[in-house]
Amino acid sequence: MIRVAVVGIGRMGGRHAENFCKGAVSNAKLVAVCDTDEKVLASFRDKHRGIVVYADYDKMLSETKPDAVVVATPHYSHSTIAEKALKKGISVLVEKPITVTVKDALSLIETAKAHPEAVFAIMYNQRSNRMYAKTRELIKSGRLGEIQRASFTVTDWYRTQFYYNMGGWRASWSGEGGGTLINQCVHQLDLIQWLLGMPEKIVARCKTAGRDITTENDVTALFLYKDFDCVFTASTHELPGENRLVIVGSKGTAVITRHKAVFKFLKMDEKKVNARSKRDYGNGADKKYKKKTVYYGLCNYITDALYGQQCNILRDFASAVEKKDPSLLRARGEDGVDALNLINAINMSAWKGKEVDVPVDPDEYESMLAEKIKGERKIK
Ligand SMILES: NC(=O)c1ccc[n+]([C@@H]2O[C@H](COP(=O)([O-])OP(=O)(O)OC[C@H]3O[C@@H](n4cnc5c(N)ncnc54)[C@H](O)[C@@H]3O)[C@@H](O)[C@H]2O)c1
Repeated sequence: MIRVAVVGIGRMGGRHAENFCKGAVSNAKLVAVCDTDEKVLASFRDKHRGIVVYADYDKMLSETKPDAVVVATPHYSHSTIAEKALKKGISVLVEKPITVTVKDALSLIETAKAHPEAVFAIMYNQRSNRMYAKTRELIKSGRLGEIQRASFTVTDWYRTQFYYNMGGWRASWSGEGGGTLINQCVHQLDLIQWLLGMPEKIVARCKTAGRDITTENDVTALFLYKDFDCVFTASTHELPGENRLVIVGSKGTAVITRHKAVFKFLKMDEKKVNARSKRDYGNGADKKYKKKTVYYGLCNYITDALYGQQCNILRDFASAVEKKDPSLLRARGEDGVDALNLINAINMSAWKGKEVDVPVDPDEYESMLAEKIKGERKIK
């Protein structure tokens, strides 16, 4: 049984703490929580008498000496808190995003490497969704053939002005380090690189639509890979919105929506179909042809319950810490840098109004972000 602490018990960290208390992670015991908001602490203290509460995370780490800590604070503080813990040899599960800039992430990863006694993980809970895991398996095994195109539309993270006004840090360059890309879409951007690898270049346009915020909540980006392209579209202001990943390979197609995955397989590679076909176009009408070459394999996968995904990652983490075996993790801390590279590149392309190489120069990104923060207007 490992002893675990949580820093930041707001919306997400509060849920992680509750999950530990409920026994959702059988080999972890919550021993302490920390939050800088006295009201949040008081309400937690009233509910959970046996768990020590702190307003200072450093004090909590030194006094309670947990085996592991979950960091669920606003983004800019992730690296400072995680570094402090890792340097004490305490394992860390950091909420997404790993931090705000690639430069800061690389420095945190260096600290983690210097402390191999501590496990370092990131909360990429969508990797535990069986639909994406199955898609990855099909790509890696060659079942979909050569990737020819992809698109990911993520317009169903609807957020109201009420949401943005709730936490003072949300959707600002100074408080959050970005908008929908760094907050909601970091999950899908991680999935893109997890499934397809990293693109060579990105060209993007980002907008603020229908909300009084200073960051982007509407994004259209083209990811240029060596042999194919991926279109990425995201927004938080449209209804009903959709969530749809399409990956087209030379031997099959995957279409993943919120609750359903449909895989269509060809019996032979499209190149062979093309070489053999004596028809001018189409395939469905020719029964003989269809029988010989094309078939559809439809598989429906039901997603895990929403917070089931986060519990999967908490459980992996606890086992990795208990057994001192990072190979049990679905996402290691250092995996956090790739999605951040994509986010930094999308922002940079939008700011410059042109195509950029991936990765972008981390120093240039930091100085452009600093300018954004300097010029940011105050939201009432
Ligand atoms: N994995 C997911 O699906 C998911 C979902 C929502 C949020 N998140 C992530 O969780 C993190 C927190 O988001 P949230 O929505 O819970 O925010 P929140 O504002 O509801 O909670 C953050 C809490 O951290 C506390 N805090 C701030 N600075 C602190 C510090 N230095 N020490 C201790 N406590 C501090 C705040 O008082 C607040 O209670 C973010 O990284 C966010 O992106 C992840």
